[in-house]
Amino acid sequence: MPAQPQPPALITLFENTATTAGLRDRLCAALRQAISSGALTAGERLPSSRLLACDLNLSRVTVEAAYAQVEAEGYLQRHTGKGTFVSQSLPRAPSARKSKVVKPGLARISARGQKIVATGGCRDPQSPVAFAAGSPDLRAFPLKIWKQMTARQLRVEGERLLGYGDPQGYLPLREALARYLQQSRGVSCTAAQILITTSSQQALQLLAMLLIDPADSVWLEQPGYPGARNAFASAGADICAIPVDDQGMAPDPAFPIPRLIYLTPSHHYPTGVSLSLPRRLHLLEFARRHASWIIEDDYDSELHYDGRPLPAMQGLDKHQQVIYLGTFSKVLFPSLRLAYAVLPPALVAPMVTLRTVNDGHSSQLMQAVTAEFMHTGHFASHLRFSRQLYHSRRDHLLAQIGQKIDWLIPQVSAGGLQLAAHLPAGQEQYFSTLAAQAGIETPRLSPLFTGNGGSPAQHQDGWLLGFSALTPSEITTAVNRLASLKVPAISQTMPAATSQPRR
Ligand SMILES: Cc1ncc(COP(=O)(O)O)c(C=O)c1O
Repeated sequence: MPAQPQPPALITLFENTATTAGLRDRLCAALRQAISSGALTAGERLPSSRLLACDLNLSRVTVEAAYAQVEAEGYLQRHTGKGTFVSQSLPRAPSARKSKVVKPGLARISARGQKIVATGGCRDPQSPVAFAAGSPDLRAFPLKIWKQMTARQLRVEGERLLGYGDPQGYLPLREALARYLQQSRGVSCTAAQILITTSSQQALQLLAMLLIDPADSVWLEQPGYPGARNAFASAGADICAIPVDDQGMAPDPAFPIPRLIYLTPSHHYPTGVSLSLPRRLHLLEFARRHASWIIEDDYDSELHYDGRPLPAMQGLDKHQQVIYLGTFSKVLFPSLRLAYAVLPPALVAPMVTLRTVNDGHSSQLMQAVTAEFMHTGHFASHLRFSRQLYHSRRDHLLAQIGQKIDWLIPQVSAGGLQLAAHLPAGQEQYFSTLAAQAGIETPRLSPLFTGNGGSPAQHQDGWLLGFSALTPSEITTAVNRLASLKVPAISQTMPAATSQPRR
């Protein structure tokens, strides 16, 4: 019988297969790939195990074992006395020349999908390194109580918590939230208006899906929360970035009438400014006149250190146009994945239906534990404790920067887990690189600015410094590192008076 020439593709594939695999597995992988790519065609005869072993410098036993394995998978047919052949019954691989050239990657994604990918998404910090923004101090969480309550819920409620749950959310949690929001935030609602979600981000995504048609105008604060920008941009909205001054969002009549206005009125993200009462009333009246929705994202108002925050805007709404959002990510812990929306009655049924097609509901067990944590007063005492802890950390960070760094101007804010700090104009990239080289994370302010109508965003240079998850000595060490950076002379480049701290 004439010697079969060795298929060169098979040899190349074998040589290129990950060398960490065993020799038999490498040969199996090369055979599968050669057949599924069409390099070996249906019915083609393979070299004998002796010849292939010789060419690949393998033992004949290894080649026999690989042939037997790939035969068992259906890629090969072996006939005693005749040889080894590529199976005739496999679907034919497309011929490279005939198949239409398809651009890899985005070409197979829908237009909506491409918009979502283009936003770049949003990722939260995964560890409490200085100065990653936005995380509570998980080391200060009352884990022991939480464990006891989890065990108690499982003992008492048992398998009732293991099944699918109410897509609107666990009723005792919605009741606890309604009471808490009325008393502490002046939100006017009943448990029937509350929808539990896994995050504020999920609530934003659902609202964008329900309320926004492509090219609808959506007003966002400038600078503003990228999570909201991404949610509305991915729904095809026309984003209008409205400037924020020391009274919060300052609407300009030149902007198109919005279908929806997204706000962080208690504590503007990222500057911490509170939306003044006249502006709140003006925006509510504006929304009434133009039938616009308002989303009030009250993401961290519980963590307020100087005086009391203004009550929620939702409590001033007479026309059921405000959707109030809150989250447990900041006041309990982010991996809990529980947040809530207080909906105008007309939106309850549509949003619950949307929730059913968007992963159904949140974990019943975690909702039950959170409800018990609230009912038994542990939530209120954990809030009091966190407020004191983060208050002292904010003051410590401000004092440290004030004493040691003259090129960074913090913007004092009355609450929250982070603060904005301004850098000399045009220096954000340079200073961030220096800080990164010193092992300090400094989330940048410029990505929080959006250009309007396709024009590039005018931004302020600065950082958003998270302090809540850091102990005083961690804050001191990190500020010392920043203070020792070799920065250029700055007298000409500090921000203008308008971006100096408010107090
Ligand atoms: C303004 C704002 N809203 C919402 C959230 C996130 O909440 P969640 O984890 O529930 O999506 C954040 C997180 O940093 C935020 O800054």
